[in-house]
Amino acid sequence: MLSELLLTEMTRLAEKDNMPLHRQLYEAMRRSILDGKIGAGDRLPSSRELTQDLKVSRNTVVAALNQLSVEGYLLSRVGSGTYVNESLPKAQAKAQHRNSSGSPAQLSKRGSALSATFCATQLEVQPFTPGIADFSAFPVALWQRLQNKHWRMTYPDMLDYSYSGGYAPLRRAVADYLRVFRSVPLDVDQVIITSGTQQSLELSAQLLGDHGDTVWVEDPAYWGAVKAFMATGLHIHPVRVDQHGMAPDGGDVQNAPRLIYTTPSHQYPTGAVMSLARRQQLLSIAASYNAWILEDDYDSEFRFSGPPLSSLAGLDQDERVLYMGSFSKVLYPGLKLGYLVVPKRLVDPFKQAHYDLNRPGQMPLQAALAEFIELGHFASSLRRSRQSYAQRRQCLLEALQPCLGKHAQITGAEQGLHLCLRLPTQVDDKALARRIAELGLTVRALSAYCLARTDVKGLVIGYGYAPLADIARCGPILAKAINAELKKI
Ligand SMILES: Cc1ncc(COP(=O)(O)O)c(C=O)c1O
Repeated sequence: MLSELLLTEMTRLAEKDNMPLHRQLYEAMRRSILDGKIGAGDRLPSSRELTQDLKVSRNTVVAALNQLSVEGYLLSRVGSGTYVNESLPKAQAKAQHRNSSGSPAQLSKRGSALSATFCATQLEVQPFTPGIADFSAFPVALWQRLQNKHWRMTYPDMLDYSYSGGYAPLRRAVADYLRVFRSVPLDVDQVIITSGTQQSLELSAQLLGDHGDTVWVEDPAYWGAVKAFMATGLHIHPVRVDQHGMAPDGGDVQNAPRLIYTTPSHQYPTGAVMSLARRQQLLSIAASYNAWILEDDYDSEFRFSGPPLSSLAGLDQDERVLYMGSFSKVLYPGLKLGYLVVPKRLVDPFKQAHYDLNRPGQMPLQAALAEFIELGHFASSLRRSRQSYAQRRQCLLEALQPCLGKHAQITGAEQGLHLCLRLPTQVDDKALARRIAELGLTVRALSAYCLARTDVKGLVIGYGYAPLADIARCGPILAKAINAELKKI
């Protein structure tokens, strides 16, 4: 019987390692899954049944199940319970087990968990792929000229590592932009040029969280952030998102955060804009737990309707918000440049650690970007992209119009490069996304971004990548597939 199996394993773990109870249960279940003692696709007893059988508190069971769901071992199906993930590859499961039992190590436990969950590489880039900008519009010839100029002018220092947070004129240009357009109050000194938001997240997690510390993550969430936190050994605590953004409640507050990761301007992927009340609530929670907030402002450059939004960092009186932005969507992703704005008291340790851990460089590239911004090319490139994305967005909204009604609503279309079509919970959005993929279109199931929730269904649809003509041609095909699904309800 499952409970006996788990109890035996938990007792063994308690004798060997002095772990808290929820960790014992998590580890016991994980090992039993990897061992095949709990089979792929098996349905687990409910948390109430497990609570009774194991004679532990419900919180202990829920914490263990949540962590296993976050790491991809378990999947929840609405109305029918929790199951062992069938797609945990067998070979990988064996490798994971060998690692966990200490024999021929291939991947660490962390490495196994990282490779078992959320794989962005599986996603094909074709019309409607979310999160991808149209970098074909980037002014390549101009960029080449600027790069050549900086290579010609390059003096030996520019070929060295970058020691002080990045090329000073680029840091100044970023600071000027953020002060004016994002109301971030800052000194140039606080800006660190990184190789993108992913690196900003990793650096923040490495420097501010210890192994096992809790990070609050929005649920549904941006995969890149989840992976960065998993990689740094943080305990991921999912916090529900509603129409006003991240919505912590009493249960969340019992899991004291060390870090809070949020996308307040345009929640990724639902698109919710965090209300002022929520922003203040989050800042006050952070203050009461002495926690840090990581604000990922990934697509605010493209705002199409609604009042202009300022950043959460702009409201921060207490110096607890680390603000991060990226040039991946506004210029092109392979540029691999972004910025992290840290509170003054963190400037020195962050610059030092950035240097020690990453050995940043690419000064001629940074110099070309600084000049690109100073000469006004960045602003005009943004203006052009904004216009072009606004047309694509409008075209997609019109194509989806016939789907909208009681069962389907659009959220998050005011900004960015994607919108979210919310569907009723009984829709299998992953199956729908697969059917749409057979038509040569890529959308993502909203539930695929969920960490612990089972009540969120929909499609995340991008309009950044495909040209207007493709959106006009493929929009009705997409709408027809969605409507066919809605008719089944
Ligand atoms: C929510 C979110 N944050 C950040 C990024 C950008 O990350 P990077 O600068 O590492 O390319 C993305 C890119 O897709 C994103 O979707």
